[in-house]
Amino acid sequence: MANNTDNVKSIAWLIGKWESTEATASFPSMQPMPYKEELVFTHVGQPMLNFSFHAWNPQTGKPLHKESGFLRVKPGTNEVAFMCAQNLGIVEIEEGSLNEEHSQVDLESRAIGRMSFATEPHTTKISRKFKLLKGDTLEQTVFMSTTKHHELTPHLYAVYKKINE
Ligand code: HEM
Repeated sequence: MANNTDNVKSIAWLIGKWESTEATASFPSMQPMPYKEELVFTHVGQPMLNFSFHAWNPQTGKPLHKESGFLRVKPGTNEVAFMCAQNLGIVEIEEGSLNEEHSQVDLESRAIGRMSFATEPHTTKISRKFKLLKGDTLEQTVFMSTTKHHELTPHLYAVYKKINE
């Protein structure tokens, strides 16, 4: 039975399975690296979306980055919170705003925690955007700063096609 999405109406445009058509990781410390990624946003009736992202090497199929968590809207506002755990050994809370008219979410990290044996350099700030370019095309951009590179700098750029509702 399909869920009633009334309690996540303003972010319901994210629900579904998305597969990247282009995706590149870059940073001053590395050569730009193309990757593939699948994003899944689901709604199980609660006033939030659950999400799960996983990236892999397009040549070898080797699993790379993974993130999973929750996206919530503060009721009656356009304020959003994005909470996630990453296989790098970090957990983070990003908060920001939702532009419902343009189907866009802008986020900035307000808390990053990491396991004691996470490798350096550490991420010190993340700024992330999701934007619906068309009904079935989603864009994600991620900027970060690290303990080595203090300026917020592009790390990820990806465009996805919706492959499943
Ligand atoms: C918000 C999510 C992410 C965070 C916080 C993050 C963080 C980092 C950090 C701190 C580094 C080290 C940078 C340096 O050495 O100067 C790094 C490197 C790298 N990241 Fe990410 N990353 C994220 C997502 C991804 C994704 C989705 C991919 C896609 C495969 C990716 C691919 C890479 C690659 C290829 C490197 C360089 C090689 C390496 O050090 O492993 N990252 N990332």
